Amino acid sequence: MTEKAQTTPPPPVYAPYADGRGQLAMGLMALDPGQWVEIDGNLPTQLAIKRELLQARRDEVLAALPESRAGAVETRDLLLAHLIERFPERYRLIPAGIENRMTDENLAIAGFADAPLELAGRLVQEDFCLMQAGEGGYRLVAACLCFPSRWRLDDKLGQPLRSIHGPVPHYAERLARPVDNFFTLIKLDKPVWRVNWTVHDTPTLFQPDPPAVAAHDIDAANAGDRLWVRVERQTLRRLPISGDVLFTIRTYVDPLRALAAQPALARGLAATVRDLPLDSVRYKNLLAYRDAVLGYLDGVAGL
Ligand code: HEM
Repeated sequence: MTEKAQTTPPPPVYAPYADGRGQLAMGLMALDPGQWVEIDGNLPTQLAIKRELLQARRDEVLAALPESRAGAVETRDLLLAHLIERFPERYRLIPAGIENRMTDENLAIAGFADAPLELAGRLVQEDFCLMQAGEGGYRLVAACLCFPSRWRLDDKLGQPLRSIHGPVPHYAERLARPVDNFFTLIKLDKPVWRVNWTVHDTPTLFQPDPPAVAAHDIDAANAGDRLWVRVERQTLRRLPISGDVLFTIRTYVDPLRALAAQPALARGLAATVRDLPLDSVRYKNLLAYRDAVLGYLDGVAGL
């Protein structure tokens, strides 16, 4: 056994698959506004990845339609106020902007005058997507999206929720109407959150494309180290001035082996994968890895 294989990674922070259900669900929960963003020890590394992407692949990770301006500025201002109040030991107002003490950076507000969501994205691990009411429902009007899970900002910019979710099996008949209705009803003081999950064959956070070719040497014996459970903690809130809806995505990636000492979670994920309709298995690019994942999880769960 290698040294790496002997250490067990920490258990996952979120396990939306624990209930064993594979059917699509809104899964919205009330969000404590104080818990809007989540910071952990990966922040410096993840912000470094964002900085690089925002430089080298800027058009892929940052986009804004002109009508997003007011909501984007509002997002930036809300985030700055939140960080300074909630994490005073980590963020501090400075004359021109904000200091991030975890990365020793000073970010000047004026330096991002044309891209307020970029400043937001450079401060925390979250990605930011701004939704605005329009024809056909709420549309994606701006985003700073450095950690997409197999979608491209360019494909979705300007699209309403129904088209954004076009590739998601069963979304149209099960979720489109309740999600559209929910967006019109989001109250100022009632933010919500939800969590979704998928399995990737890489821990890379910037993942705009589907996997090119499935690795056929992944099996139950090595799946713990070759596959990663990717979970998104998403929040939704209405912005008080513009009335737009802000969607944040905080991505957590754990090796499947993080479930090695968590038999109940392993059982939950296995049951969820078994419960997934075949088209959803395909959509999640899990077809090639399904047996490896189940073999590994059943072993952990003692089945
Ligand atoms: C209540 C709100 C929402 C619900 C219930 C919801 C639900 C879902 C679900 C179930 C999936 C499939 C995930 C999977 O099985 O791996 C999905 C994918 C996705 N969602 Fe949402 N979503 C919501 C809001 C949003 C918003 C506001 C955006 C704006 C950017 C968004 C963008 C996406 C994208 C881009 C995908 C991937 C689509 C693709 O494969 O091309 N979602 N969503």
